[in-house]
Amino acid sequence: MQRIVILISGRGSNMEAIAGRCAEQGWPAQVAAVIANRPDAGGLGWAAARGIATAVVDHKAYTSREAFDAELARTIDSFEPQLVVLAGFMRVLGAAFVRHYEGRLLNIHPSLLPAFPGLHTHRRALQAGCKAVGATVHFVTPELDHGPIVMQSVVPVLPGDDEDALSARVLKTEHVIYPLAVRWFVEGKLKLEGALVRQLDGASQVLL
Ligand code: GAR
Repeated sequence: MQRIVILISGRGSNMEAIAGRCAEQGWPAQVAAVIANRPDAGGLGWAAARGIATAVVDHKAYTSREAFDAELARTIDSFEPQLVVLAGFMRVLGAAFVRHYEGRLLNIHPSLLPAFPGLHTHRRALQAGCKAVGATVHFVTPELDHGPIVMQSVVPVLPGDDEDALSARVLKTEHVIYPLAVRWFVEGKLKLEGALVRQLDGASQVLL
């Protein structure tokens, strides 16, 4: 049984999708813990109500990024996970932290990377006149919102879309592709080949 630790900062809808699918579909894995960097992260209550261990490492309590990263890693490692999943975790993680979890740290970002790393992705896509947007699940590397791409979803931009409409449409696809990517990882179906990720069953790595 593989152990997954999920890091959140807020409502945790991706965490819910992953933990729910893991339990319903009988993955060879369990969500060992949900850790937040904010004590008021909404997803903590959902996890606790389902008997999942929760912890808070409040970034405000640390004077340096290194000290926060070190305590976060210590907390994560106490659950001995094979996989660490960033699900709306809104803190930049330092290179030493990222290297410690190399090859077992996944993130989801609400854009078609490498387009629009960083914040306000949907606003920026609308301003750029994009006709399609989406979300990306990727292995984390020290460069922000970069790293080998596991799966992407592609979503049309419709006439009249605003940031909220676009974000809601993309989020629905996040709840499909992130659980699938995590399932592939725990089933040993992902192979990292340099900057590329191969799905060993040949399954499609894009949701259209
Ligand atoms: C999701 O849209 C996720 O892609 C995004 O935050 C949201 C979290 O929602 N992540 C990032 O922007 C990371 N750069 P959730 O808490 O309901 O899963």
